[in-house]
Amino acid sequence: MLYVGIDLGTSAVKLLLMDEKGKIHNIVSKEYPLYFPHPGWSEQEPKDWYEKSMEGLKELISGADKSQIAGISFGGQMHGLVILDENDEVIRPAILWNDGRTTKEVEYLNGTIGKERLSEYTANIAFAGFTAPKILWVRENEPENFKRICKIMLPKDYLAYRLSGTFCTDLSDASGMLLLDVKNRKWSQEMCEICGITTDQLPALYESYEKVGTLRPELAAELGLGENVVIAAGAGDNAAAAVGTGTVGDGKCNISLGTSGTIFISSRTFGVDRNNALHSFDHADGSYHLMGCMLSAASCNRWWMEEIVGTGDYSAEQKKIDVSKLGSNHVFFLPYLMGERSPWNDPDARATFTGITMDTTREDMTQAVLEGVAFATRDMYEVAKSIGIHLDRTMICGGGVKSPLWRKMIANILNIKVDVPECEQGPGMGGAMLAMVAAGEYENVEAAAAAIVSVRETEEPDPALVEKYEARYQQFKTLYPALKDAFAVISK
Ligand code: XUL
Repeated sequence: MLYVGIDLGTSAVKLLLMDEKGKIHNIVSKEYPLYFPHPGWSEQEPKDWYEKSMEGLKELISGADKSQIAGISFGGQMHGLVILDENDEVIRPAILWNDGRTTKEVEYLNGTIGKERLSEYTANIAFAGFTAPKILWVRENEPENFKRICKIMLPKDYLAYRLSGTFCTDLSDASGMLLLDVKNRKWSQEMCEICGITTDQLPALYESYEKVGTLRPELAAELGLGENVVIAAGAGDNAAAAVGTGTVGDGKCNISLGTSGTIFISSRTFGVDRNNALHSFDHADGSYHLMGCMLSAASCNRWWMEEIVGTGDYSAEQKKIDVSKLGSNHVFFLPYLMGERSPWNDPDARATFTGITMDTTREDMTQAVLEGVAFATRDMYEVAKSIGIHLDRTMICGGGVKSPLWRKMIANILNIKVDVPECEQGPGMGGAMLAMVAAGEYENVEAAAAAIVSVRETEEPDPALVEKYEARYQQFKTLYPALKDAFAVISK
């Protein structure tokens, strides 16, 4: 049978068609606009997600035997606030995961309500991109919109709703709303009261691999599909990517270099980082995970290449970098183009180049951008190490994986073996695998991962380079604390 995984990303929706053995039959990508109505704000139109997904779906299955298509599921950009009125009309553009407008609301939640209470109710504290602070922002700044809210959902849940008619979400994605009691896998009544909403306005909760319904008959007819195509709840993109890279069960790690950058550590048991610098969320395999998220990762390279250097040929630019200079670049880049979440929780942080001298070349700066993202990934890894997590290897996925140089930097800056999967489309693969479990193709997510995911190659750290990079990381580490106060001033 065939399964569709829909990766609802920030720059595009990527759709993947896969059979139950893991063979990929087709991949289609459709871009949509991202709006920055103010510096640090980030919005998208849910109708663009739906229209581009339908367009992509038609293209994806055009050459396939449609009678074989048995299920659809999702990996979706997390935390975005989508609000619908009583007629199911979208009330305002979605406020995305990398939007930094909620400084005041985050201060209220972490300060007045208090981090301890938040952590007790949800296992997490407030970060600007999380959904609950955005609900408070709408209540304060757009009271007319707030009054009209009938349904609150996350980006991929909007697609699931339009495709199946079921108002649903899954536990991994719901974890990032700051409305879920993560440990007990249910909505937090206390958090709903704090936000001035009721659980009636929130979607029904499902495990990621559960069936929420079938494709609406009129859409099945439009797409030429049968009437029993299963729609599974799906997962937040990071949990879906973890499924797609086999990061399930206990103590496995996946690093994602997409628009955001994440480090994701699976765990069979519930646990919280005592400083809440890592998020403690439910996993799509029915268990838990810890995750750090930096807001700009591959997007830093994209910005540098396309906006500044003025090229779409990233690989040609990277080939000009002299590998003997790895570990000795005197230029540093702080990758905070949209502020930073993990570990700093600082929407005011800004990107900078530091250490430029008259002999600095364009290649040094390209190298610094890639290294800056890897150093910031190391910052998140350090938090994991500080709470006793020790890893010797990680999977890797996302657009950044295409760069062998970037993979080498990650392996040597984190001093960890980096396993590259056969297919780097983590969230799309994970989505398709969740649909397989929902359709009964596999007994559970771990069984699907064991049967489908394989490693193409491994990047091993080189002790001499690890040592050089260690010295550079110690220097990198001093930069954000030194600039923090200046960022607070210049970002206003
Ligand atoms: C995770 C996060 C991002 C988005 C990107 O907490 O905010 O990784 O999910 O799509």
